[in-house]
Amino acid sequence: MTIDFTDRIAIVTGAGGGLGRAYALELARRGAKVVVNDLGASRDGTGHSDAALQVVQEIEVAGGIAMSNGGSVTEYDQMVEMVSKAKEAWGGVHILINNAGILRDKSFAKMEPVDFDLVVKVHLSGSANCTKAVWETMREQNYGRVLMTASSTGLYGNFGQANYGAAKLGLAGLTKTLYLEGAKNNIRVNTLAPVAGTRMTADIFPEQAFAAFAPENVVPAALYLVSEEAPSNAIIGAGAGVYHAAYVTMTPGALLPPDQRTPEGIAAAWSRITDRSGEIVPQSGAEQSMVIMSKLQGS
Ligand code: NAI
Repeated sequence: MTIDFTDRIAIVTGAGGGLGRAYALELARRGAKVVVNDLGASRDGTGHSDAALQVVQEIEVAGGIAMSNGGSVTEYDQMVEMVSKAKEAWGGVHILINNAGILRDKSFAKMEPVDFDLVVKVHLSGSANCTKAVWETMREQNYGRVLMTASSTGLYGNFGQANYGAAKLGLAGLTKTLYLEGAKNNIRVNTLAPVAGTRMTADIFPEQAFAAFAPENVVPAALYLVSEEAPSNAIIGAGAGVYHAAYVTMTPGALLPPDQRTPEGIAAAWSRITDRSGEIVPQSGAEQSMVIMSKLQGS
């Protein structure tokens, strides 16, 4: 099976460098017309550059088709305009990779509210803005592939990244509702948690690891997740050639008799409540209530 993107129109946000650039180059190499969005910001989100334009030039030199967009994902109107321009030039938008991001790392004790808000604004609200800007088009086309970029910090936590982690797990949450709302219009929505040597991780990875974690090793997972054959509602991790899945699960839990529905009763039943044998991966929030109802009915 060859995964081909001929006649597909893709938007990659934050594609002026790092992972986004690698996604844009490979999408274009496989035939997609690509909007390379990037504000050209520094790692903390300040400043501007023509990074997007440079990636467009790289794509064109390699024989691909691309347009640059310098809009900020935090500005909904700019994202709407970006989508309009892609539609005017090429007739639609089939793929959106929400990849733009910044860091404002500090322990929570030292983190100013403004640094919390800005990181959530770029990652979470920014992805919602771009997705909202393409959503109606994807519904009309009866075709859409949307990828959110989460992170191990969002899924599992990391010291000094409360703002980033909150935004990143929020993106997995956004996926979980959008995949339900998009299903009847063939819109599939997934979450990727990459690990890559980029400027974002330049001071974290030792030199050798930096090379092993080249962004090109994340590209296959990202492209599969926006391909025609993509699943929906998957959370996939990718780094250095290792690809894995992550799940939000639910344990079978314990039905406590009325006299044990106390904090003390919870303490006493803790190991039964948290016992993972027989846990499930609910496909929607309603499944939580269904599991509870079936427990009440004794099945
Ligand atoms: P990067 O810093 O090279 O790329 C992020 C890009 O987003 C930059 O080019 C930046 O100019 C752009 N950007 C920032 N604010 C923007 C805005 N408001 N509008 C448009 N563009 C904006 O970093 P990297 O590593 O390539 O990160 C890509 C994504 O992957 C990010 O969402 C990041 O959080 C995520 N990620 C990366 C990991 C890694 O190991 N590199 C780990 C987990 C997640």
